[in-house]
Amino acid sequence: MKKQSVLFVCLGNICRSPAAEAIFINLINKKGFNNNFIVDSAGTGGWHIGKKADNRMRKAAHKRGLEILSRARQINSKDFEIFNYIVAMDDSNFENISALKSRKSLSDFSSINKIQNFRSVFEETEVPDPYFGGDDGFDHVLDILEDSVSGFLNTIC
Ligand code: 4NP
Repeated sequence: MKKQSVLFVCLGNICRSPAAEAIFINLINKKGFNNNFIVDSAGTGGWHIGKKADNRMRKAAHKRGLEILSRARQINSKDFEIFNYIVAMDDSNFENISALKSRKSLSDFSSINKIQNFRSVFEETEVPDPYFGGDDGFDHVLDILEDSVSGFLNTIC
């Protein structure tokens, strides 16, 4: 299998995209594909750079056996040369990533995708931002992502 690279992107890079990254890593480890992928996550915003993922998301993920280890960073021009898949959590992330690409005339190496295009169980076309909501929002994000991230992996390999 040719090496593939995947960057999951949300707004703050402390809730949804680190969760998507952890779910993806867990799946490729289980399938024995870990050497075939470079995986990372980033935010379109830079408010939380260097921070661990939100405690509430780490706790919700831990309950289902997932460890979220990433530190927040902001997407940058180089990412469009490194990652062949850039995967947005919602429409706004998708628009912001696309705008960054066209504003800076960046390489076409990356395809920009929306994770919910790979869903099969849940109807939501976007992963809802859980940051300002209650704890159950984090569990719901994980439920949605377990479905769509698995669909994404099955589509690309
Ligand atoms: P995320 O959630 O995009 O899933 O990481 C958010 C985290 C922080 C903020 C917004 C969304 N914020 O406004 O600080």
